[in-house]
Amino acid sequence: SEMPQPAALATGQTTVKKDYGAVKKAIEDILDVEGYDDGSYGPLLVRLAWHASGTFDKADGTGGSNGATMRFEPECSWGSNAGLDKARSILEPIKAKFPWISYADLWTLSGVVAVEGMGGPTIPWRPGRVDKPSGVHCPAGGRLPDASKGAQHIREVFSRMGFNDQEMVALSGAHTLGRCHTDRSGYVNPWTNAPTTFSNLYFQDLLNKKWTPKKWDGPLQYEDNTKTLMMLPTDMELIKDKKFRKYVELYAKNEEQFFSDFASAFSRLLELGVQFPAATVAV
Ligand code: HEM
Repeated sequence: SEMPQPAALATGQTTVKKDYGAVKKAIEDILDVEGYDDGSYGPLLVRLAWHASGTFDKADGTGGSNGATMRFEPECSWGSNAGLDKARSILEPIKAKFPWISYADLWTLSGVVAVEGMGGPTIPWRPGRVDKPSGVHCPAGGRLPDASKGAQHIREVFSRMGFNDQEMVALSGAHTLGRCHTDRSGYVNPWTNAPTTFSNLYFQDLLNKKWTPKKWDGPLQYEDNTKTLMMLPTDMELIKDKKFRKYVELYAKNEEQFFSDFASAFSRLLELGVQFPAATVAV
């Protein structure tokens, strides 16, 4: 008799092929939207994939994208996750159309499709994440980075996940995308003038523009001389800290290197804590 195929799911009489290519296409189709921010949900989906994954602690294997625990309290209400309810809700129609995909796979895949759809590198991605049934599986709070802090905090948070200095800088290059929202984080404005195009512009701007503290009632952030672009205190640490700055200079000069290093680090971020069945093929 025939062996069951790992990529097929029996549902009553019929067998559904798990067509991840079709899911990718469905995500691509919802990226561009007039009237939302800068015309794309892409940056928001990249942030969803990152916050779903960035809770990982390599010391005990807890946290990470597996489980999609951000659906539940308390994780869905963490201040650091403000605004991501929007990201999760725009993916619901896709989950309804492809019910066999786990939320955890869908959220991480949407970050990958968003980076690729905004002109970034191809990110190796494979399925295999399994959703947890309730909020008792939420990781401990306070694991995502605090934008008001310094280099030591950045290193604590990202080395807890298992990343080195170069990978921390490469991952931070995602701030070339999107913007801050006062009603989500308290900060305001985009980092770059091209927030829906994946590029190394963030690194160039960090080095080439003059960043001064913004005079306002909000939290400390930095602005350029046009007062339209921003940097967080943690972004500024990447040029203040000599070891980080070396990689900012590298990526500002060499976009190809940035794309390649970002692809590896982002792919690994999305897989932290996930146990894949043997021989899972990338799609
Ligand atoms: C947005 C902080 C690292 C991707 C934001 C926002 C803050 C923030 C405060 C604004 C949220 C809002 O108001 O909507 C930080 C800190 C980091 C960090 C402190 C590390 C020290 C990362 C990493 C990635 C990432 C590693 C991805 C690889 C994004 C994206 C946005 C964003 C794409 C824009 C979201 C949008 O436009 O809605 N981040 N972040 N960030 N972050 Fe980060």
